[in-house]
Amino acid sequence: MKKVTLIIGDGIGPEIVESVKKIFKAADVQIEWEETNAGISVMEQYGTPLPQHVLDSIRKNKVALKAPLTTPVGKGIRSVNVALRKELDLYANVRPIVSLEGVSSRYEDIDLVIVRENTEDLYSGIEHMVGDDAAESIKIITRKASSRIAEFAMQKVVLERKNQKNRLTVVHKANIMKFTDGMFLEEATKLVNGYKSKGFFDKFVDMKFDDRIIDNMCMQLVQRPETFDVILAPNLYGDILSDLCAGLVGGLGVAPGANIGDDCAVYEAIHGTAPDIAGKGIANPTSLLLSAVMMLRDKNIQDYENADRIEAAIKKTLRQPYSVTVDLGGTASTMEFTDDIIDNL
Ligand code: NAI
Repeated sequence: MKKVTLIIGDGIGPEIVESVKKIFKAADVQIEWEETNAGISVMEQYGTPLPQHVLDSIRKNKVALKAPLTTPVGKGIRSVNVALRKELDLYANVRPIVSLEGVSSRYEDIDLVIVRENTEDLYSGIEHMVGDDAAESIKIITRKASSRIAEFAMQKVVLERKNQKNRLTVVHKANIMKFTDGMFLEEATKLVNGYKSKGFFDKFVDMKFDDRIIDNMCMQLVQRPETFDVILAPNLYGDILSDLCAGLVGGLGVAPGANIGDDCAVYEAIHGTAPDIAGKGIANPTSLLLSAVMMLRDKNIQDYENADRIEAAIKKTLRQPYSVTVDLGGTASTMEFTDDIIDNL
């Protein structure tokens, strides 16, 4: 049995976690959950939203599944999600964006993946007041972080070629931020040129590399999202594009996500804790479920058979209008949706 750290989360977290546990049990997935929690609900007990034992558990098990956590708005409280990524050096945020039949959206046939640098840029947290009337936030971009995320994105193109993902597009604003975004673009271009000089692009002649300025990229994603395959972006643009792209395929409730480092990985629902519907039993568990499916394909688990089986059951259930939750236009509760997935396994 492979042990996996399970972070229960705040708000709707416990409800959608229950759905994953029930489906994995019904599918007889050989995973033992090591349950723990972080966020606002453990603050009082441990004096921190990210207790050391949570980090230790993830470091030991190397794989974690995480439900959303509340970060109180205001000064002095660091986002748990940002802290987790930094502490464990989870430098790649991966968001597959795929059209799902049965989930209404303006587009069809979208199948792309966003690879976002997760550790620096304006998220470095170096911010201060300059006197009373100005504030400054510092954007950090390094060659090391830029080149390792470019390599990660390139590997995604290589590994996922079987799914016809053969175009790598790097996003930046290097025309204005010549040093920071300029360095990010330069490192990506250097890496691709390295692959080219090794004859890689001759071997796979359909591989393409290009770049887009972030504003133009937003327009092109809205006009023809189906033309993109792997999108590589620094932290802030990647964050914004991730939600924009989730909107293209039906919203935050159905898109999965992962934070990946060399040693460990944390798979997570990309939406928040949805306090407005918490405790009502109507939350849509699809985002966490599809993240759990991604997790089964992690290098430390590699249970492709169950990943394919559970994914197929989720997709089949989403096509049944009577099975889906309120946010998708249905009337089913979280558990009714869950039970229908189990019936479709
Ligand atoms: P949110 O994603 O929690 O909610 C936005 C809207 O989407 C709400 O109307 C909510 O009911 C709906 N929604 C979200 N997930 C849903 C689901 N699975 N099923 C059905 N409806 C769903 O975003 P919001 O309100 O901005 O943030 C609430 C809290 O979540 C904040 O404390 C924030 O810090 C936290 N948060 C945590 C994240 C994480 O842990 N990765 C990510 C984003 C926000």
